[in-house]
Amino acid sequence: MPYPDTRLRRLRQHPAARRMLQEYRIAPDNFVLPLFVHGGSGDRREIDAMPGVFHHSPDMAAEAAAETFDAGVPAVLLFGVPDRKDAAGSAAWAEDGPVCRSIESIKRRSPDIHVFTDVCLCAYTEHGHCGVLAPDAGESCRVDNDATLPLLARMACAHARAGADAVAPSDMMDGRVRAIRRALDDAGFAEVAIMAYSAKYASAFYGPFREAADSAPRAGDRSGYQMDPANVREAMREIALDIEEGADIVMVKPALPCLDIIRRAAERFDAPIAAYQVSGEYAMIKAAAARGWMDEKRAVLESLTAIRRAGAQIIITYWAADAARWCARR
Ligand code: PBG
Repeated sequence: MPYPDTRLRRLRQHPAARRMLQEYRIAPDNFVLPLFVHGGSGDRREIDAMPGVFHHSPDMAAEAAAETFDAGVPAVLLFGVPDRKDAAGSAAWAEDGPVCRSIESIKRRSPDIHVFTDVCLCAYTEHGHCGVLAPDAGESCRVDNDATLPLLARMACAHARAGADAVAPSDMMDGRVRAIRRALDDAGFAEVAIMAYSAKYASAFYGPFREAADSAPRAGDRSGYQMDPANVREAMREIALDIEEGADIVMVKPALPCLDIIRRAAERFDAPIAAYQVSGEYAMIKAAAARGWMDEKRAVLESLTAIRRAGAQIIITYWAADAARWCARR
């Protein structure tokens, strides 16, 4: 029955009807707030390329986490910004490093918040790659996959020991999920979950993050381990392998450029799907909003709804606290 018998606008007239007919809804429960943590105390510094996002010392991170939790967001994801780097990224498993100290202060302050930690070496290695370089790598910056696995496992165990609820490997090495699962189990952390960055693309949208974490590769790029944005079928293989290796949650990243990947993953797999609205997605909207070219709140809520609609259950977003407040007031 086409027009004039059918008029889809009929149901759009009344705000209450629109509310009733809304198919997808985002809630603070879906969000995870990423937090950058560095050493020291009482210290908070805004990141240039990410206005409104800060580097926190552990006590300030606890403050930010508590505020976010109070706004209804169940979880945070910690990224360490260490004060020393070396070839193997050994600060990554330091028990007195920013991540371990932050886990402790966050948990002391907010015992019920869920703490994820990023597991990757790029912020800790002096060359800025996500694993150790092969001894004969030379100019090629070839990352040694198998030599990297025990280091990631060691990092994950250090976080678990400090009280992390779940670790999130973002390095894209083959076999890391299994290596981390085994190491956690052997160390008595069978309860600690793994959220794997499974379909992680070599994306230009990580630019501001690399400034924030000082983790840009000094030479070469990440296309030897992160995925080609042109590939879909390969993403499904990555996700399937990570689930087989023991991932509890699988992630697609970045989010908005990958809505089709999220949708496919959600249709194909029953594991919880997370999507990461990355730093470049944040910076784009912030920059446009600062110039008055877009309404920040509407652009953010629309993007988050799109990511949810595509099939993500968990959305990692720098807007987690703001968006939670915006959801409550809608
Ligand atoms: C570390 C890592 C990156 C991001 C999350 N973990 C950067 C990268 O792979 O270069 C990106 C997050 C963001 O852009 O917000 N490997």
